[in-house]
Amino acid sequence: MRVLVLGGGGREHALCWSISRSPLLKHLWCAPGNAGISEIADCIDIPPTNAEQVVDFCRREAVDLLVIGPEAPLASGVSDAARAAGIAVFGPSRAAAMLEVSKAFAKEIALVSGAPTATYAAFDMPGNAKAHLTETGAPVVVKADGLAAGKGVIIAESVQEGLAAIDRIFDGPGGEAVVLEEKLTGEEASFFVLTDGEAVLPLAGAQDHKRAHDGDVGPNTGGMGAYSPAPAFTPQIEREVMDRIVLPVLNEMKVRGMPYSGVLYVGLMLTEDGPKLIEFNARFGDPECQCILPRLETDLLPLLLACAEGRLEGDPLAWKPDTCLTVVMAAQGYPGSYERGDAIGGLEEAAADPAVTIFHAGTKSQDGGVVSDGGRVLSITALGRDVTEARALAYDAASAIRWDSGFYRSDIGWRAI
Ligand SMILES: Nc1ncnc2c1ncn2[C@@H]1O[C@H](COP(=O)(O)OP(=O)(O)OP(=O)(O)O)[C@@H](O)[C@H]1O
Ligand SMILES: [Mg+2]
Repeated sequence: MRVLVLGGGGREHALCWSISRSPLLKHLWCAPGNAGISEIADCIDIPPTNAEQVVDFCRREAVDLLVIGPEAPLASGVSDAARAAGIAVFGPSRAAAMLEVSKAFAKEIALVSGAPTATYAAFDMPGNAKAHLTETGAPVVVKADGLAAGKGVIIAESVQEGLAAIDRIFDGPGGEAVVLEEKLTGEEASFFVLTDGEAVLPLAGAQDHKRAHDGDVGPNTGGMGAYSPAPAFTPQIEREVMDRIVLPVLNEMKVRGMPYSGVLYVGLMLTEDGPKLIEFNARFGDPECQCILPRLETDLLPLLLACAEGRLEGDPLAWKPDTCLTVVMAAQGYPGSYERGDAIGGLEEAAADPAVTIFHAGTKSQDGGVVSDGGRVLSITALGRDVTEARALAYDAASAIRWDSGFYRSDIGWRAI
């Protein structure tokens, strides 16, 4: 098979890494990719959100499967354009990706499907949102309706904070509308399923760390580390999430004529009253993807193709018995401003243990070496018998990397240990 992957982060390196191990693969491209991906795929200089260029490339190179990693190409309709051109696509239509792209839409679908989730109200005018908040009081979770690159959620403990948050959201990205939600408490976990719009195949649960610094403090990031499976996400919780959230919501999407296909990311709060939906994403999580795919024994490529072609079967997947943990190495200053272009050494030594894989995120090749080229730069991943062993191996590997201005959290997995 000839496969094109869109994206260039740690998630896409993990996807390319898994796909490149398939005996079915003939040629792999990635747009735009990164230094790590370029070792296993041809990196091409096409913007992932440019539907015309992506479709042209797929036609010219007779690509059999287009795999969409991040949300931006889904939101901009690349999957629809490729499907219309007869190309098999792993990733939902723009209409179905609304489950991620509009939080008000996702909440409405959850409500109609009877899926347990925080109570909410949605507003497209700041005045109405403020009036509602003044009446209902704090604490409240204020969310931008649209994509906001991780900056669209504020947990307000007072009414005053909530009112200020409403103004901020309407002024920022994704702020054409705002969702006000009940604040849930508990442990967070995420769950991933594959679907072709009809059949649904559970993948795995995971937990990640969103805050920049040890002890889960500091600013929110795209994710500083993750592990899978997560002991808190028990098989019983998985069944409950499938039955009460995933299946009813996917069915509702079908009923509305917008069947969802691809991977569905289910963000959850494990509350005292059972698991409740926080959000959907229309793609794999980053860094959760990096700790799920290394555990998968089943060939990923035919599964992706089956999702794209509407012939996913219910055969259970084969998994390694191990736990996988990934530690994100980021540039000093991230998620604020940071430098690019620093040389990174020791990558080969760090990955010498066969249990360790280093996925690249913001890197590029320069003068025969690797330099930093983003906020989150590496995803240092290890398989072990349990979280403790996987974590020890990942941190051993991290300490072998020579990059003066890089940093990582030293406590990934603390909850599970
Ligand atoms: N109702 C809620 N109660 C408590 N905490 C919440 C609630 N909704 C969101 N949060 C917190 O805010 C975080 C971000 O919320 P959410 O996942 O909806 O936003 P997002 O910007 O789409 O995130 P992502 O970047 O992971 O897609 C959650 O991981 C959770 O910690
Ligand atoms: Mg989201």
